[in-house]
Amino acid sequence: MSILVTGGCGFIGSHTVVELQQAGEDVVVVDNLDNSTKAALDKVEEITGRPVKFYEKDIRDREGLEEIFTKEPEISGCIHFAGKKAVGESVRLPWEYYDNNIHGTLVLLDVMRKHGVKNLIFSSSSTVYGNPDAVPVTEESPKKPCTNPYGSTKSMQETILTDIQAADPEWNIVLLRYFNPIGAHKSGKIGEDPNGIPNNLMPYITQVAVGKLEKLHVFGNDYPTPDGTGVRDYIHVVDLAKGHVKALKKFDENGGLYIYNLGTGRGYSVLEIVENFEKATGVKIPYQIDPRRPGDIAANYADASKAERELGWKAENGILEMCADSWRWQQMNPDGYGR
Ligand SMILES: NC(=O)c1ccc[n+]([C@@H]2O[C@H](COP(=O)([O-])OP(=O)(O)OC[C@H]3O[C@@H](n4cnc5c(N)ncnc54)[C@H](O)[C@@H]3O)[C@@H](O)[C@H]2O)c1
Repeated sequence: MSILVTGGCGFIGSHTVVELQQAGEDVVVVDNLDNSTKAALDKVEEITGRPVKFYEKDIRDREGLEEIFTKEPEISGCIHFAGKKAVGESVRLPWEYYDNNIHGTLVLLDVMRKHGVKNLIFSSSSTVYGNPDAVPVTEESPKKPCTNPYGSTKSMQETILTDIQAADPEWNIVLLRYFNPIGAHKSGKIGEDPNGIPNNLMPYITQVAVGKLEKLHVFGNDYPTPDGTGVRDYIHVVDLAKGHVKALKKFDENGGLYIYNLGTGRGYSVLEIVENFEKATGVKIPYQIDPRRPGDIAANYADASKAERELGWKAENGILEMCADSWRWQQMNPDGYGR
């Protein structure tokens, strides 16, 4: 039996391949390298000492996927990371986002069912909660309209998967709603390698720390939060990856739809992250306060107790470890994988 990992060369995918291999699973990766490089998998192999089967293909390429399922008949389930994920870019390029994320998922699901593979774990996001009425959010908190096409694709993909599971109860579908993954593997060999100027806080901070960017821009300090800056639930990417290994147990069920928040349950403000980064690394981060960014919300963090109860999963790394591990990766690889 093996697990097909779509988008396995990316940030979360590569860390998950490590955890899967270390848990004894065989892995097949498909990735079109749109936002990644094969070098990430070479590093994964260095960490685990095990080869990873890799297909450079686009999940919208039906024949390409057919070829993979035919050549790899032992695939019994899929962890589906492949997709585009930049919020700002999605506002400029909505067609590209709907085509990649929605069309890609539909082709994948169709090829999977034709090959009798009906086990899927999906990378969803806390973005489906929109601007929540109350925090922490539980899996029962209402989904809200998303403020950008990226968020809409995540919400729609959840709906599509839910409808498909309802119509064909043989499917085991696990929707994992990630909060904000940061950090990197302890080895410093794999980590987040954003293309161009980072959109997310931690890679921005590490690039300021390494001297590639001058200062951090903090968007808004007048939110209704303790210090006025936005509060998010940051989770170590290795903890997140381990959540996928735990979720594999749902593939043994006789069909069902399962939803879990993967977060730590603790929110940190932007300024608290800066403070903790400085504490963990000894590097000062200059910043300036800018106006709020449209579409940003004040606070979101998870109630992650359902994943603990049902999957036996809990985030283990604290904020100082997340900061230290992000920094180790950035220092060891100032230009990421050198794309
Ligand atoms: N990083 C986050 O903050 C975050 C939060 C919530 C959800 N997610 C979701 O988790 C998943 C993984 O995120 P990530 O941070 O690792 O992103 P990433 O961009 O590093 O990884 C995505 C991978 O998918 C590949 N890919 C994209 N389109 C493809 C296609 N059509 N066919 C084949 N491969 C394709 C990319 O080349 C890349 O390697 C995404 O679906 C993302 O939306 C990420």
